Amino acid sequence: MEFCNSKLPRCHTNSIFWKIFILFSAIFLLRALFLSPVPFFHWLQQSGSWTPDYSSSHQHAVRRDKFLEVPQIIWGLNNQKIAFARACLTAALLNRTLLMPNLSASLIYKEIDLLKPISLDKIFNFERFNSLCDGFVRLGRYSDLHNRTDPFVLRKGSGRKWSKERDLNQLYQCKEGSIDKFEVIKVDGKHPFLWHDHWPVMSYARIFECLTLVDEIEADVSAVMSRIKAKGSYFGNNLSMSVSSQISFPCMAIHMRIEKDWMLHCKNLEERSNIHQICSSKKEIMDRVARIKGLNFPIVVYLAVADSLLEDNSILRGWREGLLPFEKKRLGVWNIYTKHPYLIQSAIDYEVCLRAQVFVGNSFSTFSSLVALHRTQILVKMGVRSICADSIFASYAYNILGDFGAPKKWMTDMSAPSLHTLSYGTNNISCQV
Ligand SMILES: *[C@@H]1O[C@H](CO)[C@@H](O)[C@H](O)[C@H]1NC(C)=O
Ligand SMILES: *[C@@H]1O[C@H](CO)[C@@H](O)[C@H](O)[C@H]1NC(C)=O
Ligand SMILES: *[C@@H]1O[C@H](CO)[C@@H](O)[C@H](O)[C@H]1NC(C)=O
Ligand SMILES: *[C@@H]1O[C@H](CO)[C@@H](O)[C@H](O)[C@H]1NC(C)=O
Ligand SMILES: *[C@@H]1O[C@H](CO)[C@@H](O)[C@H](O)[C@H]1NC(C)=O
Repeated sequence: MEFCNSKLPRCHTNSIFWKIFILFSAIFLLRALFLSPVPFFHWLQQSGSWTPDYSSSHQHAVRRDKFLEVPQIIWGLNNQKIAFARACLTAALLNRTLLMPNLSASLIYKEIDLLKPISLDKIFNFERFNSLCDGFVRLGRYSDLHNRTDPFVLRKGSGRKWSKERDLNQLYQCKEGSIDKFEVIKVDGKHPFLWHDHWPVMSYARIFECLTLVDEIEADVSAVMSRIKAKGSYFGNNLSMSVSSQISFPCMAIHMRIEKDWMLHCKNLEERSNIHQICSSKKEIMDRVARIKGLNFPIVVYLAVADSLLEDNSILRGWREGLLPFEKKRLGVWNIYTKHPYLIQSAIDYEVCLRAQVFVGNSFSTFSSLVALHRTQILVKMGVRSICADSIFASYAYNILGDFGAPKKWMTDMSAPSLHTLSYGTNNISCQV
């Protein structure tokens, strides 16, 4: 089967071909949406409302003899998590096991050779993933392949003409007999972060939840957290056993993006999008954080910052009384981080931010957005639908001004129809689901 590729001249020039194609795509899409009993859409409709109990989906086992292969996953930790989840959801749509892709240990964007591949199971627990996501998505190993026959190579279209509908149409064609019979469908070309997004936030959240760290990295996260707790109790934080202490530890984690690269990026973004709430200076962050109510002082403030800022002691100065700022070096955990490549360092910071009693981030950062999503998911599972009044396990966006000069409270809209706002940032946040 051959798909229209934007490089082929007839795709550009032959408008009759185009009209017919669009007409057929539309008919196909409408049929898929409303008429045919495609289980995926049934499942999408069901997932419209959040139910913490996933047992209903367990009866639909994912096929173990058909596989999807995707390109190496690249860029920052959170771009990689999103790309991985999108690959999983694509595999689920095709009712195929996803062959465990390689992630990239380093952050270098431009040269593919330098993107040190790292097997996903070096970071996330493979068995636990399959057990938590059982019946929804499934990860397989290359050793599971029976037949080393040639895969069906699926070229993802690109360019402006490659619409979301065409993309979905292409995926549905892969469910038909002639392609479905292949043991492996191999997606060629673009990295999954850049694929079209056909899934609601809820579906992504379900996959992120199945990603738990391997024991060795989890041990390092615990070591960092105990260091923070030790500092807290040394300075007199004796937080009593509250509800939150079962899910969090006494710490405020701030994902502080003030390094030069980010400042250039966010200023550009502000100009292009005409939104003036993206960049926050160090001073603005400190001023807003100082006005957060309901904290139990003194409290350790863990600053999750870029390495370039660790040399600059000034980020530790100027915080209000009662806030005890630490970064990796001052906390004495630098050695825990430096034995790992970029990706794992970032994964450790993610966990610290996830489990801190209070999290403050930037709503235009993918890292912060995924932390906020994950924290929201934890609250929703506990039955909490709003943190407007409470500060227990609250998240805030320092780039947006909230009440009384404090940063704005932030819960993720779990019913959003796509991951777009989380991937690219938003200033439309609220403290309710
Ligand atoms: C996937 O395929 C298996 C085996 O054919 C089937 O039992 C299951 O219902 C399918 N799952 C979905 C979500 O279509
Ligand atoms: C993943 O990376 C390893 C090297 O670390 C390489 O041997 C292997 O072929 C890669 N796997 C895939 C599927 O690209
Ligand atoms: C392997 O491939 C051959 C021919 O392509 C097919 O007849 C056979 O059923 C396949 N075996 C498995 C286990 O998929
Ligand atoms: C915790 O600290 C408060 C004052 O900040 C003090 O009144 C209380 O006795 C302390 N509790 C314990 C168990 O140390
Ligand atoms: C802001 O988000 C809410 C809930 O997600 C949505 O209903 C509303 O339309 C959004 N507003 C804008 C201006 O995008």
